[in-house]
Amino acid sequence: MPFYKKLGNIPKKRHTVFKSKGGKLYYEELFGNEGFHGLSSLLYHINRPTRISNIDKTENIKDYFLDIKTLHPRLFDSSKLDSKSDYIKSRRSILSNDDCKISLFSSSQSLEDYFYKNADANEVIFVHKGKGKFRSMMGNLDFKSGDYIFVPKGIIYQVNFSSNENRWFIVESGDKITFPKRYLNESGQLLESAPFCERDLKTPSELETYDKSGTFLIKIKKHNIVHNFIYETHPFDLVGWDGYNFPYIFSIHDFEPITGRIHMPPPIHQTFASKSFVICSFCPRIYDYHPNSIPAPYHHSNIDSDEVIFYVDGDFMSRNKSMIGYISLHPQGIPHGPHPGATENSIGKKQTNELAVMVDTFNPLKISKNVIDLEDKNYYKSWKENLI
Ligand SMILES: [Fe+2]
Repeated sequence: MPFYKKLGNIPKKRHTVFKSKGGKLYYEELFGNEGFHGLSSLLYHINRPTRISNIDKTENIKDYFLDIKTLHPRLFDSSKLDSKSDYIKSRRSILSNDDCKISLFSSSQSLEDYFYKNADANEVIFVHKGKGKFRSMMGNLDFKSGDYIFVPKGIIYQVNFSSNENRWFIVESGDKITFPKRYLNESGQLLESAPFCERDLKTPSELETYDKSGTFLIKIKKHNIVHNFIYETHPFDLVGWDGYNFPYIFSIHDFEPITGRIHMPPPIHQTFASKSFVICSFCPRIYDYHPNSIPAPYHHSNIDSDEVIFYVDGDFMSRNKSMIGYISLHPQGIPHGPHPGATENSIGKKQTNELAVMVDTFNPLKISKNVIDLEDKNYYKSWKENLI
């Protein structure tokens, strides 16, 4: 995060003696990335965070990606994804490359039997359906439909759902995920011209602090394998922390769309940036207001990027049917654009209620076996003129 936050109690000066009222020393931990150069926070534990009592067998994550190098536009129906009870098994990867992985999640069960830590990747969890509480060692965040939950790599967390149907769209990457540089000034503050500002970001509160001994299972994903670590003290034992590396929530409903007299290109929807992909938010907005504007997007050849769109709500202006819950993949190399008639139908329209999340990756994506059963095999033919 480009700003500083403090929660709980911390010593006046870092790396100095800091004790409880009873005289017990607290243990400091630097929680950061890129060695000692990236964003970091200093955490103050009641107990040493290294007290492993056992390491159980590892578990493989069943990711089978097909090395298909076809150029088919593809469409998947996320609503067909069945619900699982276990948190890790409920996350099914659908598309992946060496830079990022896109997964779907469907479950009615809270994550409370164990703690989870993704040591491979930062996660951007988009909450399509459901609500609950994201509980972490650095504090809690209440989430609801439309929220992006940013989970920094390495944080230990649990999730309590207060709804039965919970569906997420998850992007994870070992690369840094930030806000676009052009939204920030030299000091890292979000500019007046950015479509959101710091006030729109929800940061952790309600620090849970337990001084408990026992058996605490943390499932740690590293090298795409789940490592089962048993610790002898509760992992939520911080009395305080400060720094720049922490989870936060940004609601897609707080993204203020940038509009113009004529069609504005997709980068105006950008929300998150990485060196290998971008995440964009398509939100309800007033259409282009030039008297002869064509609000539907023009055809475009994303010759160097794969484009994934998750249709969240409303009618998407370039499509002829309701796409809610569908995910399209338009691979690099061939042009794509509005469905037959969508361009003509958009002329004169004043506004759109579309809500969608787009991920553009700069390297080709592989398709997971998990989505083969969700695919509409005839999607690529849906631009034929005689389907109007
Ligand atoms: Fe596109």
